[in-house]
Formats: sequence, structure tokens, C-alpha cells
Amino acid sequence: MTTSPLAELSTHVADLISRVHLATTLADLQADEPFLIGKRSVLSSLQKSLGALAPEERKAAGAQLQEARRVVEEAFATHRATLERSARSAALEADRLDLGDVVLAQVHAPVAVGHPGIVAATQRQLEDVFVAMGFRVSEGPEVESDWYNFEALNIPPAHPARGMWDTFYVDLGEPETVVLRTHTSPTQIHLMERAVADDSLPIHSVMPGRCYRRDTPDARHLAAFHQIEGLVVDRGISFADLAGVIETFTHAYFGADISSRLRPAYFPFTEPSAEFEITCTICRGDGCRTCSHTGWIELGGCGMLDPAVLEAVGIDGDEWSGFAFGFGIDRCAQMRHQIADMRALIENDVRFLRQFS
Ligand code: DAH
Repeated sequence: MTTSPLAELSTHVADLISRVHLATTLADLQADEPFLIGKRSVLSSLQKSLGALAPEERKAAGAQLQEARRVVEEAFATHRATLERSARSAALEADRLDLGDVVLAQVHAPVAVGHPGIVAATQRQLEDVFVAMGFRVSEGPEVESDWYNFEALNIPPAHPARGMWDTFYVDLGEPETVVLRTHTSPTQIHLMERAVADDSLPIHSVMPGRCYRRDTPDARHLAAFHQIEGLVVDRGISFADLAGVIETFTHAYFGADISSRLRPAYFPFTEPSAEFEITCTICRGDGCRTCSHTGWIELGGCGMLDPAVLEAVGIDGDEWSGFAFGFGIDRCAQMRHQIADMRALIENDVRFLRQFS
């Protein structure tokens, strides 16, 4: 009697499974595949040797061999899945961004960070002064209709006062009906309209923002500049309240040795109107080139609200009165930091900008 070719089958199976587990990388396992479960494996040569068996023995042996192959193939597939998983996590680990290192790198090589420009910083400081005096801060659009920029402010079409503002027109709608605002005064109109609509009078607000004029830039003028407007609408407001607010603001912002003065002037939206000047901070009042040797610098205009403006927005001038003022933020920055020529504000020379961080 010949020994069955499958006599050692379980030993072969155990040997194949331990060889499967010997592979520590996918590449090793793949390279061994023909010897473990492929054509060159012991299982395939056993398969061939079954041909020598009697037909009745061959069937039982075939089934036995198939079961052995299933067990080895299963071990092979399981181990391959394990190796694939660890290959994936090794790849992820290699790709991982170590944020700890990034932060450390920044600490060692700091990036240059900017700071608010001198005009933006001045605007914030002015807002702070007025907020401390009980005002709110509001903003309005930079593109306005002729009605907000002029008509509602008591400057009808063709009124000679329009010559006070050299205007940029926007090419929209009827010619000369849409403008880049020439001052922040139109925001007064928006605020009063809203207060009438919400029945929320009184108003105590300041309104900062950018304005535009067809001016040739010089030491005290820019074509795109900034103003801050003030508006008070309340009961029993007098010119003394206006003068007091201007003087309180001047001392709070520029210091105790800088004073304000009001000189009679004309603005269509206020009556009476005044120009508001402060001691020149460059010469402290002695007279210099920047103040044209007067010792005073004009900051803006102010006055008591003209009844025609209250009427345009539907506020009863018998019950309510008020005052308004408007002045240049860039001019304030210039005076506060003693900048002889305002054009330095828009030249973007970093040696200039760095002085105000
Ligand atoms: N809007 C004026 C200008 O830019 C300044 C001004 C004058 C504003 C009188 C006011 C005011 O609110 O009452 O020339």
C-alpha cells in the first residue's frame, strides 16, 4: 500500500501559514505568493499527484486538499489586509502636518504685521472722544444722489453755493444726478429721515467717512479725504451748546494748550454758520508756513440747523432745534502729528508710515 500524498498535509498547511506570517511588508508577501498559494506552492504539486490515486480515493483527497487551500488562502488574505492597513497608516503618518513645528517656526522667524494707518487710527480716536461725550457713531454711503448731497441741505440746483464743492459726478442715470459725496453732511439727512420714520428723535450722532472733491492736492488738501460730521437734534438746543461741544472736543483731542475759535461763515444748511479753527499745533500759534502765518488752522464748519433742512426731512422746527458740525479727519491727523504736508498721508512711504505704529 502506498502512502497517501496527503499524509503530510496538515504539516504543509501549518508551514504555509507560518510563512505567510513571516512577510513583514506587502512587497514580500506579494513576492511569496506563487510559493504560498500559487502555481509553485506545495498545494499545487499535491494537486498534480492526486492523478495517481484510484478514482474513489481521488475524490476524498481532492476535497481535503481544497479545504487545505481555503485555509491557507484565508490566512494569506487576512495577513495582506493587515499589511495594507499598516502601510496606509505609515503613509498618513509621513504626511502629517506637525503644527507644533509650524508654530515654533513662526516664533523663530516673525512675519511683519501691519498696523492701522494714521487716518484710520485718528478716526477711531475721534469716535472715542465723541462717544465719551454721549454721541453715537453712524455711517452713510459714499455715492449719493444730488438730493442728499445738495438739495436736502438747502442747496437747490444752480445755487451759487454749489461752487463751494468741486464735485465728481458718477456716470449713472440722468447727467449730474449721482455724485461722490463732497462732504459727510448728507449722512445727517439719512439719520434725520430714519429718526422721523422710527419716531426716535432726539439725535446725538457723529458720522465719519470718506469724501471726494475735484481739488488739486496741496499741503492741506487731498482729493479723497475724510470728514467726521456731528449732528444734535433735540429740544432747546442753543449756539452755546455747539460752542461748548467744539471747545470740549478740542481740549480732549489736542490737549489743554490748544484752543478753538468760531468765525462767522456761510453754509446753506446752517444759520447762523461758523468756521471752526484751532491753534496751529505746528507753531503753537506763533505763525508758520502751514497756517499761512495766522497761528490758526481751519478744521471745519458748524452752525445751527437751518429750518429749511428740518423741513426737508419733515421735522417740526417749532418743537426741535439742533446744531451740526463737520471737519477733516486727515486735517486732525496732520495737526495732531505735526505733519507739514498732508500729501505724505497718501504716498505710502513705509519710512513715514512706520513712525505711527
Ligand atoms: N459740510 C461742510 C463742508 O464740508 C462742513 C460743515 C459746515 C458741516 C457746517 C456742517 C456744518 O455740519 O454745520 O464744507
